[in-house]
Amino acid sequence: MKKEILYLIGFMGSGKTTIGKQLAVKEECDFVDLDDYIVQQNNMNIPQIFEQFGEEGFRSWESQALHQCSLQGKVIIATGGGIVENSENIDFMKENGKVVYLKASFETIYSRIKDDGNRPITKEGLSGLKKRYMNRVPLYEKADYIVSTEDKSLEEVISELHHTVMYK
Ligand code: S3P
Repeated sequence: MKKEILYLIGFMGSGKTTIGKQLAVKEECDFVDLDDYIVQQNNMNIPQIFEQFGEEGFRSWESQALHQCSLQGKVIIATGGGIVENSENIDFMKENGKVVYLKASFETIYSRIKDDGNRPITKEGLSGLKKRYMNRVPLYEKADYIVSTEDKSLEEVISELHHTVMYK
């Protein structure tokens, strides 16, 4: 079953969930959104988890969820933007599947997420988010594939993933 898992990584707002869902339909495989999985397992939404357990608590659940969701075979997993903050998660994903970085500029991402109340990290504001983005880019770039979503339609990104990633 190894290498049948496709992990989508990238900053918040890079389209991991939307793209992953759509790609799973095309490839006729399962789809898991790691944030949704954590919310279901714990019966709390993401802001509540951050509030009660802090970012550290969330990160530990996130790593556990990554391991649990990687037990099934052919699946596309949309990860949370901070999954790369734990380097063990990067190693784990690369060992167990293909890792795709969905790349978008900070400007594009910021305009999409700045007012999103369901993403606690956005409270850090423009400078905090930019710092996180800059720190994470080299970690995202450890992916096996880098696919830019900038100025592309959803269909174009899906087609690119289908041709360049799924059949390699
Ligand atoms: C986070 C990204 C979120 C979610 C949590 C923390 C981050 O996922 O896991 O709010 O640190 O970048 P998305 O990338 O799906 O928004």
